[in-house]
Amino acid sequence: MKVLLTSPLPIDVENKLKVSGIETIAGNGRMTKQEIIESAKNADGIICLLRDSIDAEVIDSSPGLKVIANYAVGFDNIDVKHATSKKIFVTNTPDVLTDATADLAFSLLLSCARRIPEADRYVRQGKFKGWRPDEMLGSDVAGKTIGIFGFGRIGRAVAKRASGFSMRILYTDPKEWDFLDAEQVDFETLLKLSDFISLNASLDKSNQRAFTMREFEKMKRSAILVNTARGKLINEEDLAEALEQKIIQAAGLDVYEFEPEINERLKRLDNVILAPHMGSATVETRLKMAEICLESVKDVLINKRRPDSCVNFW
Ligand code: GLV
Ligand code: GLV
Repeated sequence: MKVLLTSPLPIDVENKLKVSGIETIAGNGRMTKQEIIESAKNADGIICLLRDSIDAEVIDSSPGLKVIANYAVGFDNIDVKHATSKKIFVTNTPDVLTDATADLAFSLLLSCARRIPEADRYVRQGKFKGWRPDEMLGSDVAGKTIGIFGFGRIGRAVAKRASGFSMRILYTDPKEWDFLDAEQVDFETLLKLSDFISLNASLDKSNQRAFTMREFEKMKRSAILVNTARGKLINEEDLAEALEQKIIQAAGLDVYEFEPEINERLKRLDNVILAPHMGSATVETRLKMAEICLESVKDVLINKRRPDSCVNFW
């Protein structure tokens, strides 16, 4: 049995795969689609990254494929429908990265509100000459309103943090949740009332580029936008324009519309914080994610059962 690892996994996890009798085909973490197709030809499984596009062409060129384990919670990089039609299990890594991602969302929120990266640059440039009443003024967080776009596991974990900061919590979600004092609102209300908007939805056809200039214009001019979900939820060119024109105040971004490319205009602005898609990037969390991928592959190939974190049904 062979599994393609499009990227190296923590060594313990790779060893556990080998001990259970699974041979690995090693990728380098930056495989092109053509390289994935070549390497997956004889594979029974693939453990892949969110940057790997596992589309119908890749799936069809791997006739023995039984499982695609995504080393991520989001799986918009995989043609799940096509995999399902071929009875290939698709799995993700839910739960273990919820807190890490919510922590990053809140870090970006606080860092934007209090201009932390800008303040750090300011001090290093020797501009701090002693305490001044009007220096580096930011925005309060406590008592403000946060709007959470997508109230799944990560969205609710962001709400928990917001609750600790005595914030009013609004959310949009297809489902109504009885969670803290969070209020379900429609999208327009979320845009209008929120001081902070945190994007925590998984990407699908319905919400691609949900945030364009039209939405930024409806937001408060003092609003701060945080995206730790998927870049394609936002029209990035419009966002750069909105931040340049101060149509909204600031943004904290961990993900990008054309990742890993980042709009050049954003890089020039002080009122945006740019992070390298690191929501789940803690030592503990990445290890747990790798272990889930391992278990998923073992469940399908060895235990012959449906993995716990399987996202498709037939
Ligand atoms: C990261 O973006 C993930 O989906 O796990
Ligand atoms: C600030 O440092 C204060 O003491 O108010």
